[in-house]
Amino acid sequence: MTSTLVANIGQLVTNDPTMGDGSPLGVVNGCSLIVDDGVVAAVLAQNAPEPACDTRIDADGRSVIPAFVDSHNHLLFAGNRSAEFAARMAGEPYAAGGIMTTVTATRAASDGDLLRNAQRLIAEGRAQGTGTVETKTGYELTRDGELRQTQVAAALQDEGFVDAVTLLAAHVPPPEMGVDDYVQVIVNEIIPAVVGRAQWIDAFCEQGAFNLEQCRAVLEAGAAAGMGVRIHANQLSNMGAVQLAVELDAASADHCTHLSDADIDAFGNSSTVATLLPASDFSTRSPYPAARRLLDAGATVALATNCNPGSSYTTSMPFVIALAVREMGMTCAEALWSATAGGAQALRRTDVGTLRVGSRARYAVLDAPSYEHLAYRPGVPLVQA
Ligand code: NIG
Repeated sequence: MTSTLVANIGQLVTNDPTMGDGSPLGVVNGCSLIVDDGVVAAVLAQNAPEPACDTRIDADGRSVIPAFVDSHNHLLFAGNRSAEFAARMAGEPYAAGGIMTTVTATRAASDGDLLRNAQRLIAEGRAQGTGTVETKTGYELTRDGELRQTQVAAALQDEGFVDAVTLLAAHVPPPEMGVDDYVQVIVNEIIPAVVGRAQWIDAFCEQGAFNLEQCRAVLEAGAAAGMGVRIHANQLSNMGAVQLAVELDAASADHCTHLSDADIDAFGNSSTVATLLPASDFSTRSPYPAARRLLDAGATVALATNCNPGSSYTTSMPFVIALAVREMGMTCAEALWSATAGGAQALRRTDVGTLRVGSRARYAVLDAPSYEHLAYRPGVPLVQA
């Protein structure tokens, strides 16, 4: 067994309301953390005798938080779309069609290219405090291509880079066939081929992508094959995807930029997490989701980067937190909770996103005395370790 002592923590965020100040963040001031074999073994008061450990890290009064849980990403791609971004900033709208540019580049890339690009992005995120990563497929749109994407993702998962893999064959319909024919390919060929490699099924419910019934067919087939359900909902318009997510007991409905009052109520009365992706709204000049109304209605809100080459080419959870606080009316505490424990709930994980005894010891040491600095000092690299 290897043990680590993180000593002299000025402020520890546990996300356990039975600890510390009793708030949802469970903030403990002045303590140290003991980790045994990668699992939190104890939180000790500052003046408790220090146990002998293999490694001693001195936090020197800094804030320690659960590492971010980045629960929505599209990391298996090649190329970039900087020209599309520049055109958008010059007034062009964002549309689902841009995804095909990345599909063409990804189909031409080798497995090694896809693996290295994803590793690079995950390393970027880690340097900014991310400890748990989900990635989707969805940039090949054929049976063999989507299968290959899950194989690359499985290699990333085996190496500890990725924690959750989502089949998003229903990203956009490929130009080679009609939408309904492609839905049949997903249901009858792609889902059976990736069972055991993808833990989640997803579909993009949008104009230019898939309508509600097509999404339902894909999601129900994935669920029948044992996958958990998540959905790209209400990003550019409202096609009823949030209601479908709640009906199917999806773990998460993601984007939620265009919500009706009924959608907000539905989240408040369900266990489906509303995963908000404000870096995409920033990069597509869209309105921001109604985070304040969701929280006030009792919804569980997660925040994620949605790293992808089209709508959100960032790996920075601190940037997302700053947007959520400045633009979406979330408090600093709510934004941190949503970026950690909220992301964990969106992935239906109980072992990450918290720092209590038994949690995986995925933590970030901030070069700051308190977590508020994440939003207070936007754009500053605050993660020290
Ligand atoms: O979540 N909206 C669909 N998928 C991605 C965008 C992918 C792309 O533009 O390449 C998203 O924003």
